[in-house]
Amino acid sequence: MNRRDFIKNAAITGAGLLILPSGSLRGATAPSNKLNIALIGVWGRGLAHYDSLSSENVVALCDVNEERFPDALKKFPNAKTYVDWRKLLDDHKKLKLDAVVCCTPDHTHAFIANWSLNRDLHCYMEKPLAISVEEARVVRANWMKKKGKLATQVGMQRHAMQNFNRVRELVRDGAIGDLTAAYAWGNRQVVPANAEYDQEKGVIYFKVDGKPRAGYLADYGDPPKGFHYDLWIGPSTVRPYNPGYFGLRAGMNCLSWNMFWDFGAGQIGDMGSHTMDLCWNAIDAGLPTTAEAKGDPFNPDITPIKCESHFDLPANDWRGPIRVSWYQGGVMPASPKKYINLKDIDHGAMFKGTKGYVICSFNDRIVVPFGDTADFTYYKRRKQEDVLPPLGHFQEQWLNACKNPSLKTACDFEYSANMIELMLLGLVAYRAGKKLQYDPVKGQVTNHPSANQYLSRQYRPGWVLNG
Ligand SMILES: NC(=O)c1ccc[n+]([C@@H]2O[C@H](COP(=O)([O-])OP(=O)(O)OC[C@H]3O[C@@H](n4cnc5c(N)ncnc54)[C@H](O)[C@@H]3O)[C@@H](O)[C@H]2O)c1
Repeated sequence: MNRRDFIKNAAITGAGLLILPSGSLRGATAPSNKLNIALIGVWGRGLAHYDSLSSENVVALCDVNEERFPDALKKFPNAKTYVDWRKLLDDHKKLKLDAVVCCTPDHTHAFIANWSLNRDLHCYMEKPLAISVEEARVVRANWMKKKGKLATQVGMQRHAMQNFNRVRELVRDGAIGDLTAAYAWGNRQVVPANAEYDQEKGVIYFKVDGKPRAGYLADYGDPPKGFHYDLWIGPSTVRPYNPGYFGLRAGMNCLSWNMFWDFGAGQIGDMGSHTMDLCWNAIDAGLPTTAEAKGDPFNPDITPIKCESHFDLPANDWRGPIRVSWYQGGVMPASPKKYINLKDIDHGAMFKGTKGYVICSFNDRIVVPFGDTADFTYYKRRKQEDVLPPLGHFQEQWLNACKNPSLKTACDFEYSANMIELMLLGLVAYRAGKKLQYDPVKGQVTNHPSANQYLSRQYRPGWVLNG
C-alpha cells in the first residue's frame, strides 16, 4: 500500500487508530496519516490557514517575498522554501506532495489550480478561482477529469454559515412560490492608492494632478531586497514597482491590487465571490445563455467600481428559467417595499418568486410575501429531520476530502468555476457594451464575435496557464 492509499484507507475507516501488521500504531494524527501540503502565499490570507494546516505536514512554503519566511518557518519548521511556485510544483514528487493551499493574488490562481490538478495534487484555492472566463473554463475542464480522485475547494468559507442553507431551504421549499429571479450585491467602493472616486461621473481621479489618467501606479524604483517583484507580476503584463500595491494589513492587502485588470477582477473577485455564493447555493445554476452589463465609463487599467450585470439562466429540474443579477459599488436592485432599504445590507442577496421575496445578509434572512394569494399554503416546509446539516469547518471539509476524495466539498472547482464564469462574463458584457448571447458549451459569444476577445487574457511569455 502506498502512502496515499494508506491515508485514504485511514480516512475511510474513520481515521481512527489502526494497528498495522508491523505492530506500529497509527492514528489520524500519526505522522503517516498526515497529508504533505504546500502553502503558496504564506502571509496575508495565508495566515488564516495556519491553524487548520497545523494538523498536517506542511512540507513546502512558497512566497515571492523572502521576508515572510522566518515567521512562517516558526510555525512550519520542517518546510522547504521556494520563491517560484512553478519550481515547487515541479518538485512535487521529491516533496511527496499530496496537496496545495494557495493564497496568492488573483492573477495567479487559475495557473496554480491547473498546475496542481495536472500533477494530481488536491487543491484549496483562495477566491476567486479565476479572473477570466477562459481561466475558469480551463480549471473546470481539468477538475472534471479528476473529480472523485482529487479534492478541491475555493476559499468561500462563509458558505459554512448556517444561514446559507436556511436561505436555500426557503427558496427550494417554495416559501416565495416559484423562483423567477435572484440578485446579489456588494457596496464596497475601493480605489487605488493616491486616487479619489467621482461617484457621479464614475471616474477615478489621482490626487497628484487632479485629472483622470491611467491607473497603474507610478514607478517607485527598485523593490526591496528579497522581494521578487518579477515573480509577483508572474503571467501579467509588467508594471513598474510601487509600494502602493502592498500597503495594507494582512488579509486586506488584496484591496490594494485587485481592482487592476492585470491583477484581479475588482469586487467581482473580492466580496462578489462570497456574496454571489449566498445566491448560487440556493439556485442550482449552470451557466448563463445571455449577459448584459453597464457601469462606470471604461478605464483601461481599473475594473469598474459601479457596475451591474444581468444573466438569463436556463430551467433546471426544480424551477423554470430565471434571471440572475449582480450589483456593485452603490447600484442596487429595486427594493420590493419602500420601507425596506436594501442598502442597509452591505453585502446581500434577494430572491424573487411568484409569491414574494426572500432578502438576506450572510447571517440572516426575511421573507416578504406579496399579493392576495400569498397565504403560504404553497410552502412545503421541510420536516426537522430533512433540515440540511451544518457543513462544519470549511477548510477541514477539504482536508477530509483529500484523505477520502469520495467525500464532497461545498465549493469544489465545478460549483465555483460556474459561478465565477458567470460573474466574469458580466465584465465581458460591460466591456462589449452590448447584450451578449452566450453559448455555454463552447464558451463563446455568438451574436457579437468581437466580444470574444474579452473572454481571455494575454500572458507574458514563459507563463503557461495549463502547465
Ligand atoms: N477567503 C477570504 O475571506 C479571503 C480574505 C482575504 C483575502 N482572500 C484572498 O486571498 C488572496 C491573497 O490576498 P491577500 O490580501 O493575502 O494578498 P497579499 O498581497 O497580502 O498576498 C498574500 C501573500 O502571497 C504572497 N505572494 C504574492 N504573489 C505570490 C506568488 N506569485 N507566489 C507566492 N506567493 C506570492 C505575498 O507576498 C503575500 O505573502 C487573494 O486572492 C484574496 O482574494 C480571501
